[in-house]
Amino acid sequence: MILTVMKKSVILITGTPCVGKTTIAQRLAEKLDALYINLTEYAEKHHLIAGEDEKRRTRVIDEEKTRIKIVETIKAAKETAIIIDGHYAHAVVPKRYVTRIFVLRRNPIELKRLMEQRGFAGDKLWENLAAEILDVCLVEALQAQGQEKVCELDVTGKTAEEATSEILAVLGGREKCFIGLVDWLGMLEKENLVDEYLKI
Ligand SMILES: Nc1ncnc2c1ncn2[C@@H]1O[C@H](COP(=O)(O)OP(=O)(O)OP(=O)(O)O)[C@@H](O)[C@H]1O
Ligand SMILES: [Mg+2]
Repeated sequence: MILTVMKKSVILITGTPCVGKTTIAQRLAEKLDALYINLTEYAEKHHLIAGEDEKRRTRVIDEEKTRIKIVETIKAAKETAIIIDGHYAHAVVPKRYVTRIFVLRRNPIELKRLMEQRGFAGDKLWENLAAEILDVCLVEALQAQGQEKVCELDVTGKTAEEATSEILAVLGGREKCFIGLVDWLGMLEKENLVDEYLKI
């Protein structure tokens, strides 16, 4: 009997809230016939919420429990590709299961507009905008998963279709994986906009 061991691809899509993760990750999952996991929905469905951050009015997930559950899901998946969408994906998928991590980036001027359209205001808006300006998701992904698998993708001004094609090109080896391609703080400094955009 020949045993074929097919390795699954596990692709994480992370980035600041509102950057476009879900829109892009869902398209990518369709193109790859992949299992799509939205971590916010997953945590709710599998009772992985540990409590509430009252100040931020957001849910805090139990990372340890989520990690165990995610590994179970990856192992049980019949699909050969799994797309995991969420800004803490890097923290809940053990490194050895991860094929690639895409950190989506969006110019803070455009991101602020999208956040406002989605109803973000006050501290929630400024904290998330500061996270994008200061590369928080990128730094966290690198710290948790190392350099080799992390790619950044600047989605500013791109349609979801275009961004998805770029991800497919990197996965297919037709494009290189890069990090360090945006410098929002430098851009804001040049435009004299730091005080207007970085309020925290
Ligand atoms: N490529 C794009 N160009 C312009 N607008 C977009 C693009 N992708 C998504 N959007 C819009 O930006 C908003 C945020 O998109 P989306 O929900 O995909 O982001 P997200 O990163 O998943 O956010 P969250 O972290 O809150 O889940 C939505 O209103 C969506 O319609
Ligand atoms: Mg989302």
